Amino acid sequence: MAGTAGTAVFPFRHGRRRPTVREFFPVRRTTKTKRGWSAFADHDGLRKTVSALLAAALLAALPAAAAWGADGGRGKALYGQCKRCHQVGGGAKHRIGPHLNDLFGRAAGSLGGYRYSRAMKAAGSGGLVWTPETLDAFLAEPRAVVARSRMSFKGMKGAEDRAALLAWLRGFSGARADLPPAEPTVTAEEYGLDPKLLALRGDPEYGAYLAGECTTCHRPGGGEVGIPSITGWPPEEFVIALHAYKRGKRVHPAMQMVAGRLSDDEIAALAAHFHRAEDGP
Ligand code: HEC
Ligand code: HEC
Repeated sequence: MAGTAGTAVFPFRHGRRRPTVREFFPVRRTTKTKRGWSAFADHDGLRKTVSALLAAALLAALPAAAAWGADGGRGKALYGQCKRCHQVGGGAKHRIGPHLNDLFGRAAGSLGGYRYSRAMKAAGSGGLVWTPETLDAFLAEPRAVVARSRMSFKGMKGAEDRAALLAWLRGFSGARADLPPAEPTVTAEEYGLDPKLLALRGDPEYGAYLAGECTTCHRPGGGEVGIPSITGWPPEEFVIALHAYKRGKRVHPAMQMVAGRLSDDEIAALAAHFHRAEDGP
């Protein structure tokens, strides 16, 4: 399994000494390049990344409140790219992705009540802890860090953008009684959908039967570049996405055609099936 590839390579914990560049980018190459931790060794723009790491390390030294004030507006705006799948703030819940409160210092894939991919859980038990450094690398290229992560996000290329976003997110880590309330992820209203569509209970068995058509493109574990993972989603979000394609509120020719042929009940059934579906090998 790819996610377990570099188990012992990542012994750093938040608050201990910072890794040297050597340690952070294991130079050893494996034949399975571009998978798991070893992909770090092949990362182009190593120098650029190193300066980003230094920036992130400096940033880590700032008290959260200072970071928050410094570039909070920019970080919050960049968080718009995460909002579709994540919540953060007071009352934040797991949505398509886990909530991002108290992210800094926690092991990857470690929150209760969220079904992570096997790859993310393996990375966490193999020693991956979210720090400014590991988060910076993950946001730059999620699948270079956790090869078979279910997170369908192509990456944030700008080092300064990542630093601003991380500074903002850091304000939600550590005990704070005054967290601003979480912003909701995409809602039915945003697409002008009837909320009754969300109340339909789908039959997961029927959904499993219908899913054959979907898994020709959506591989069971997510993984494929360009085709997002659709397993483990909260059913409402799944229903919202499919109706948005069906009604042309989300534009993608293949998905509009696929969704256009599905009835409301079929969409509900698929949502129920993919919600409980396991990752593939
Ligand atoms: C299309 C949906 C989607 C988008 C957009 C997205 N994520 Fe994720 N994210 C996920 C999913 C799903 C997971 C769980 C991955 C797994 O289990 O493999 C995840 C996991 C994570 C994790 C690991 C959390 C943990 O508890 O270990 C972090 C950190 C994270 N995302 C940050 C971000 C940030 C920051 C952004 C915006 C720049 C973002 N994500 C954008 C879906 C998304
Ligand atoms: C021909 C290939 C193909 C088939 C078949 C297909 N999809 Fe998709 N699907 C895609 C692509 C590509 C996207 C990304 C589209 C976009 O960027 O909006 C997508 C997006 C989605 C999304 C939104 C994902 C996100 O991260 O926002 C959902 C949900 C979804 N598909 C469900 C399904 C279901 C359910 C089926 C079967 C009934 C299915 N798809 C069949 C290619 C396909």
